[in-house]
Amino acid sequence: MNHYHITSEEQYRKAYKESVKNPADFWSDIATNFKWRKKWDSVLEYDFSIPEIAWFKGAQLNITENCIDRHLPERGTKTALLFEPNNPNEPAQHITYQELHDKVCQMANVLKQKGVKKGDRICLYLPMIPELAIAILACARIGAIHSVVFAGFSAVALAARINDSNCSIVITSDGAFRGNKTINLKEIVDKALQECKSVRTVLLVNRINNNCSITDGRDEWLQPLLDTAETSCVPEIMNAEDPLFILYTSGSTGTPKGMVHTTAGYMVYSAFTFKNVFQYEEDDVYWCTADIGWITGHSYIVYGPLANGATSVLFEGVPSYPDYGRFWEIVQKHAVTLFYTAPTAIRALAKQGKEWTEKYNLSSLKTLGSVGEPINEEAWEWYDDHVGKNRCPIVDTWWQTETGGILISSLAGVTKQIPTFATLPMPGIQPCLMDDNGTEISFWKAEGRLCIKFPWPSIARTIWGNHERYKNTYFTAYTNTYFTGDGALRDADGNYRITGRVDDVVIVSGHNLGTAPIEDAINEHPMVAESALVGFPHDIKGNALYGFVTLKGGEGTAALKKEINALISEKIGPIAKLDKIQFTSGLPKTRSGKIMRRILRKIATNEIDALGDISTLLNPEVVEQIISEKK
Ligand code: PRX
Repeated sequence: MNHYHITSEEQYRKAYKESVKNPADFWSDIATNFKWRKKWDSVLEYDFSIPEIAWFKGAQLNITENCIDRHLPERGTKTALLFEPNNPNEPAQHITYQELHDKVCQMANVLKQKGVKKGDRICLYLPMIPELAIAILACARIGAIHSVVFAGFSAVALAARINDSNCSIVITSDGAFRGNKTINLKEIVDKALQECKSVRTVLLVNRINNNCSITDGRDEWLQPLLDTAETSCVPEIMNAEDPLFILYTSGSTGTPKGMVHTTAGYMVYSAFTFKNVFQYEEDDVYWCTADIGWITGHSYIVYGPLANGATSVLFEGVPSYPDYGRFWEIVQKHAVTLFYTAPTAIRALAKQGKEWTEKYNLSSLKTLGSVGEPINEEAWEWYDDHVGKNRCPIVDTWWQTETGGILISSLAGVTKQIPTFATLPMPGIQPCLMDDNGTEISFWKAEGRLCIKFPWPSIARTIWGNHERYKNTYFTAYTNTYFTGDGALRDADGNYRITGRVDDVVIVSGHNLGTAPIEDAINEHPMVAESALVGFPHDIKGNALYGFVTLKGGEGTAALKKEINALISEKIGPIAKLDKIQFTSGLPKTRSGKIMRRILRKIATNEIDALGDISTLLNPEVVEQIISEKK
């Protein structure tokens, strides 16, 4: 039986069972819903010990044929992308599937003219404008590997990402509109490119009409090139396991990890989960508020929705501009039916009171989604009461950049929802909990470290240029199992509740921030000797960053705190700024010199009674001192 659309709890149970009993049959049935140039020879080959994972080996396809061309006969005039600009007075743009086809082909032809070939890496550093989605698809059309860098990252962070994968071209814009601000993106790119030898061409979208500087021989405005490019482009025939994109995510240590996603499995899984989690139907208007710079935007603004022939809203702005009613105004204006956002946005909007949700007609909404971090009960209830008016199912979707698609979530209106629980695994997903000794917990009701025992089609296949790190990060903590880095609770019925990261990654406003690179940035300040960062609970952001900083000398002043945050903004981006900085005379360390972040975390969260035994520390006295000096 083909389970591409699961419509009842019974069907979910059946599909789940089949997917575990015979994954190859299950996924090959699902895969028949797509357009293939050549069918696969084998559905799955894998070995987690290397690790090597291949789905639909031998198959050939182009993902843009699946996301665009195959819809043209029936959906040529249907809106594919609905662009809502930052400024509510600027008209929205409805880009039909036919127009999307033409624009993607034109952009693909421009890239070809610039010498781009299959396998080349192209960096996209753009605001949330249609050109970003179009550039993604244009790369996929010709087999180039896109590497989207979130346009809030600094020049230093951008340069590191460009250099890691040796991008030859950067597509960017003169600037970006964000609320009442304009951001000079081109200036950031110019600064980054001083450090990037691999980039030979910069293609520029004119978004804010500023007089940005142009480097002759390197920078070129995109529009004139697009205007003269052909509106058809023969799609490159890709192998199932050819890389589709690289997307960088923070690790608990070291440089950002360029997660590599490949073509066929990613397509099948992002499309399948989009259809089922949101229970997408033909006439839906779907809006995911994430930025395309994150995995949520890749899988659930671009690829998943378009593979299903959906209308996907792309919003350039922010929830607070021109006022806190902006999200709800957009829902009303475009009669949005499926709405997907992050707990941090829900909490920020809830704080503004219900006047904003009441001002607009939200009756078009059918399903609400949440992603990025655990959703607390209060935020869940507010979302349910004031946005969904207690009549829309809420899907709390747990997944990661590495997983490519949603792994644990209810299916809207089909399987049971439980506030604060992501609930049940998708078909094909085999989660398990590990105890402190690294043994799988065999009973249902338990708490442990969340792992996945079996591959799914959209699991990242490697870290760009560093397969060893891929293996060490995800496959060595437990044998033959993917380790997620998250802790989870499981109830007696097998529902999962994600409790948060168990490593040195802090999720701030739904953004995954590794503490190590931020500490490195702080330590570059000439007055700083050492620093350690931990997360602590924050009303709106979920978590915020608390920095313990020791100085080489001199005084820890308010001005110095500002300088430290300015340095973080410069090296990483404003999203990584610290909410609290405490100057300390030392940091608690083990006898081998490792900073005990566990203790600092307890201090930051005021759990001073739960510090545990500190007598084995190298410098136990420093703990008392830090506690007494905490404000
Ligand atoms: O800790 C989990 C949290 O976000 C991490 C993944 O971050 P990133 O790779 O940036 O991807 C975010 C968007 C998919 C996870 O390890 N997380 C994500 N979704 C949830 C969540 N925590 C709890 N509940 C969720 N629904």
